[in-house]
This record gives sequence, C-alpha cells and structure tokens, in this order.
Amino acid sequence: MKKAAGKTAVIIGAQWGDEGKGKIVDVLSQNFQVVARYAGGHNAGHTVIINGKKFILQLVPCGVLRPGCLSVIGNGVVLDPMAFLKEVGALRANHVAVDGHLFVSNRAHVILPYHRMIELASENAPGRVKIGTTSRGIGPTYEDKMGRRGLRVADMFDSATMEQHIENACREKNTIAHALFNSAPIDPHQMFEEYATAAEELRPFVRDTAALLNRSLREGKNIMFEGAQGTMLDIDHGSYPFVTSSSATSGGAVIGTGVPPNAIQDVIGITKAYCTRVGEGPFPTELHGADGEDLRAKGNEYGAVTGRPRRCGWLDLPLLRYSAMINGFTWLVVTKLDVLDHLAEIPVCVGYRVDGKPTDEIPARGTGYEKIECIYKTMPGWRTPTVGIDHFDKLPQAAQEYLRFIERETDAPIGMVSTGPDRDQTMLVKGFAEAFGVTMDGGESHG
Ligand code: IMP
Repeated sequence: MKKAAGKTAVIIGAQWGDEGKGKIVDVLSQNFQVVARYAGGHNAGHTVIINGKKFILQLVPCGVLRPGCLSVIGNGVVLDPMAFLKEVGALRANHVAVDGHLFVSNRAHVILPYHRMIELASENAPGRVKIGTTSRGIGPTYEDKMGRRGLRVADMFDSATMEQHIENACREKNTIAHALFNSAPIDPHQMFEEYATAAEELRPFVRDTAALLNRSLREGKNIMFEGAQGTMLDIDHGSYPFVTSSSATSGGAVIGTGVPPNAIQDVIGITKAYCTRVGEGPFPTELHGADGEDLRAKGNEYGAVTGRPRRCGWLDLPLLRYSAMINGFTWLVVTKLDVLDHLAEIPVCVGYRVDGKPTDEIPARGTGYEKIECIYKTMPGWRTPTVGIDHFDKLPQAAQEYLRFIERETDAPIGMVSTGPDRDQTMLVKGFAEAFGVTMDGGESHG
C-alpha cells in the first residue's frame, strides 16, 4: 500500500482510563476528517457538552460532534445494538448529524442480553475473582469472539442465521447460567424479534469499515484512532486480571480497525496530573485517607458510565514510563492539572522498590503489586488557580516545573495541558498545534 499522505494519530489513555480523552479528541478533530474507535464497547464514557447540555458518549466516537467528520466504530469494538441506537437517538434529538457520518463495522461482534446475564451472575459467583466490571456484557462477548461462537454485525442481516444463532446460544447460556448461578432463563424468541427489528435500524450505518478507512488513507485524509479505557486496562499489558477484555493500547488500533501498522504515525498518550482507577485491582500510588478524598472531590472523580467513586492517588511515573514504552508515545497530554492547584506539596512516585531493591518493572502478577513500595519525590505546589490559563509560559513556575519533570521522566514531549472541563480550558504547547494543524479557537462544532 502507498504511504499515507494524511496525518494519523492514536489517542491512548496512559493510565487506567478516564484521563479525559474525549476533550482531547474533540480539540484535535478540528483537523481530522475521520475518527475511529477500535476497542471496548459501551463501557467507555466520554463526557462532552452539546448545546450546553452534558452528554456522555459511550459507543459513538467523539468525532461525531464535528460537522463533516466521519465517525467509525471499528471491528475491534463490541456493539450493543440497543445501546448504539439509543445513543444515535439522543444525538439526533440534539441535532447532531449522524446519517452518512457514522459507520459501524460489519465485522464487529454483537453484545446480546445473555452476555450481560452471564456477566452479572458470574461477577458475584463464589470463588470468582471480582473484577468490578461495568456490567455491560463486554467480557463475555469477547469470550464468544475468541471462542469463535460470536454473532457479528453482518450476521444480523441474515435473519435465519441470527435466529438459529440466538436459539443455540440461549440454550447453551441458559443451561450454564442456571447450573452455575441459578439465573432465570432468557427467551430466545423475544430476543430474536427485538434484534431483527434493531438490525433494520442498524443497517444504514453498517459498512466494511476497514475498506472505508484504507480508502480514506489513500485519499490522504487525516484519521484519528480514539482509544477507549487505558493502558493498564489492556487485556495483555494491563494489570491482569483486573483489566477489560480488549486491546486498549496503541497496537489495538491496527487490529481493531484493519489499517496496517505502518499507517500509524503518532501516538498521543493522555495522563492525568495524578492517577485514578475504577473497579478492583492493584493501584500502587492509591491514597486511602483524606488526600484521596480531596483529589476525588476536587477532580469530581466519579465514573462517567457507572457513577462509581474513582479511587485516587499520586502520579505514578514507573507506570507512565511503562505506558510510554508499550504504546510508543510521540506526545503526552496532561489533564486535570488544576485539581492540584491548592496543594503546597505534590508527591510523585518516581520509582518502585521491591524486596528492598529499586526497580521500574511492572509486575505481571497481582501478588507482585502487593510487594511494591513506592519511592516518592515531593514537588513544590503552586497554590495559584491555573484554570483558564491559555499559554504554557503563563502557568506558575512550579506548575511548569511539574510538567517539565513529567516530560523528562517519560521522554515524551507534552503537547497539550488541560486545566478544566471546557474546551477553552486547554492550552496547546509549542510544536503540537503545528504538528496537528489545530488552534484553540477550535473551529465549528456541535459541542
Ligand atoms: P469491563 O470493561 O466492563 O469488563 O470492566 C473491566 C474493568 O475495566 C473494570 O475495572 C472497569 O471499571 C474498567 N473499565 C471499563 N471501561 C472503563 C472506562 O472507560 N474507564 C475506566 N475504567 C473502565
């Protein structure tokens, strides 16, 4: 294939998700003609403001808010047709153009009601490791995909295939769910009727999106790959088993959309100025007392999808360095800097110690994390509001030093800094605006 003339960039959560990718995608999308999602499902939650109204996009890429920008849900995503149609309905009601702008891969796997049934029952089953999932049926759908017994979007348009699939799957899932978890059975006939109706509503959105994206590459369009979740939730490279079931890291963009690896130019890692995670699992810099509650309150750290309080902690540089290594960050974006504005001192984890020995290694096992002792460096705080500051040089000196320190430690240049939820509470750092052809006046948007 000829090399892409347009720009391509993958946007990745550098931590455990919720780093504020939505806003960054929104700012960048002014100069990107296509935005594609490649992993996860409606477990993701991107908060955006439409016509002054707070709106949470779970499945549809944030690029849909830019008039003229094509949004693609790639083959690596698992699609709940009902959740998709609901989101489309809400977008239409808010006068966001979806028809002819939003496309779904014919190869994406379909989440069906029995996936949620199995997940809900198994999460609480005795002897199971509790992951604290979003209960959207994501994991069981990927299990069926890898087990080669999934239903794909394209199969929904062959009525006989879908009916047979649902009947067989319900027989199997109902038996398992009843035997293991004593769950009430699901009626396959009602399910088929509902999904056959949904298929017709879904049909206009469905395409061979790999072909669409590769055509866009050949035409020199700028394409952004919008990551969901975060590096430490990646099925292979995250804090297994406390992870999601898909490839959230930059490599997932290739598998999950069907563009070749050599088409990806930039990888932009998004990190909070501190750290959060939702759900269970290891978190070396977690704060359990008043400091953690303070970050939660100041940062409004509650899950966009489930409303669960997020666990909060200090910035973890070994983890960020690992994330930079796995993803190959060419740029870093730091969000929520303002949440630290009031602090006199800011501890940052600069290294780990295990059994008395310094190490930067991220453990492969949960028990490995338990042995980590964090080595902290205390950075001076700035105790000045940073909200609304539009230029890096206008930030308080200590804030600039905090950011430059992160940059040096991760070896990735900071391209953007965000100091609040609104689009104009974002500053572009020299080099980044030029690299991606964006400005802070932002261009036209529904947002
Ligand atoms: P699942 O993706 O619903 O299977 O959940 C697996 C883990 O990933 C749980 O700890 C969830 O809380 C977490 N998770 C899934 N999606 C997100 C997200 O978008 N942001 C943050 N955490 C997430």
